Amino acid sequence: MVSCGVASRRSGFPRGENALTQALAARRAAGGAIIDLTESNPTRVGLEDPAAALAAAMWDARSLVYAPDPVGLPAARAAVAADLARRGHPVDPDRIVLTASTSDAYGLLFKLLCDPGDDLLVPRPSYPLFDYLATLEGVHVAHYPLLYAAGWQLDVDAVRAAIGPRTRALVVVSPNNPTGSRISEDERRALVGLARDHELALIADEVFADYDLPGGRPGPDLLAAHDDVLTFSLGGLSKGAGLPQLKLGWIICAGPAAARAEAQARLALIADSYLAVATPVQHAAPALLALAPALRDAIRARTQGNRAWLARACAGTACTLLAADGGWSAVLRVPVDGPAGTTEERLALELVQDGVLVHPGYFFDFASEAFLVVSLLPAPGDFQAGTARVLARCAPPS
Ligand SMILES: Cc1ncc(COP(=O)(O)O)c(C=O)c1O
Repeated sequence: MVSCGVASRRSGFPRGENALTQALAARRAAGGAIIDLTESNPTRVGLEDPAAALAAAMWDARSLVYAPDPVGLPAARAAVAADLARRGHPVDPDRIVLTASTSDAYGLLFKLLCDPGDDLLVPRPSYPLFDYLATLEGVHVAHYPLLYAAGWQLDVDAVRAAIGPRTRALVVVSPNNPTGSRISEDERRALVGLARDHELALIADEVFADYDLPGGRPGPDLLAAHDDVLTFSLGGLSKGAGLPQLKLGWIICAGPAAARAEAQARLALIADSYLAVATPVQHAAPALLALAPALRDAIRARTQGNRAWLARACAGTACTLLAADGGWSAVLRVPVDGPAGTTEERLALELVQDGVLVHPGYFFDFASEAFLVVSLLPAPGDFQAGTARVLARCAPPS
């Protein structure tokens, strides 16, 4: 953390460039092209979008009037409930709280569940934003490991061991980013047992729930379908419809009646202090969610097609494509060729020289070397050209 006169310690994140961002900037400054295999923004990968229908959905004269509801306009919450029914989960719209994004949802939930200095348990490897979101609320992040052996598994004993006196919530990401792993039904039950025994809430980030990968294991896709312990499932248009720019997410609340009612009343008060969700997207939600299946199909075709190509391309090379159940990313295990902590960095830097940007595994806090993470969203031509260069770079010296 960097200190600065009047500013808080929690906002003092280092902001300097790292070796990879410097190499990338230098390549671009020299006019070198880059195939960006870290691109995970679905609005920038050449997917066809129904632009006219989206524009029509976004315009509604009711949006000229400001009449906010802290947990979201009832018609928008009903539309989210109808979308959950499509996935086989009838949910009462009164259990839904609308948010401006998943990050906004985390902020509301961390304020609800944690006092400054409390802990949250999050998976490792996972989504790097957790450290920022938690630290900005004055909350510590502790990790529990995901282990890989032909597929990713939760080490329930390690989760138990990571629970401390100030742990308030257990975060599950399913499918996880970047591992693409779903938790299994047995793992869900084990986590519920731990949450009950240690009075923890469960936060389930299920933003990728709609994106299965062929051969992936099935798993529970709405932890908030169960009322055993206080549980919050997160979803949103960002991934669920490939529309991150519209800024609409949601929290589904579940749990024993009294605890859930108290939590929802407090969430409403916290949300009322910000009223972060814009009116137009709430009025548009029913029409946007009606367009979502076609948008998801296009993304699914892209991610599944790219993954199938990568699986074929990896065969017989020194790289292993790790098994995944869903999501938008692929993890490549690459040969370690130097002292600890050097292979991923070296490879990522060399790949920038080759005109390809990938994420090294340490970006997602992989416990060991050497892994590279690529997005499955880029246009197939870019994806194939970029990953072919990655595989060539990783070839063992002859
Ligand atoms: C697991 C996970 N959750 C949440 C998000 C962010 O979603 P939102 O755009 O709704 O904040 C991401 C974005 O990559 C993600 O990977």
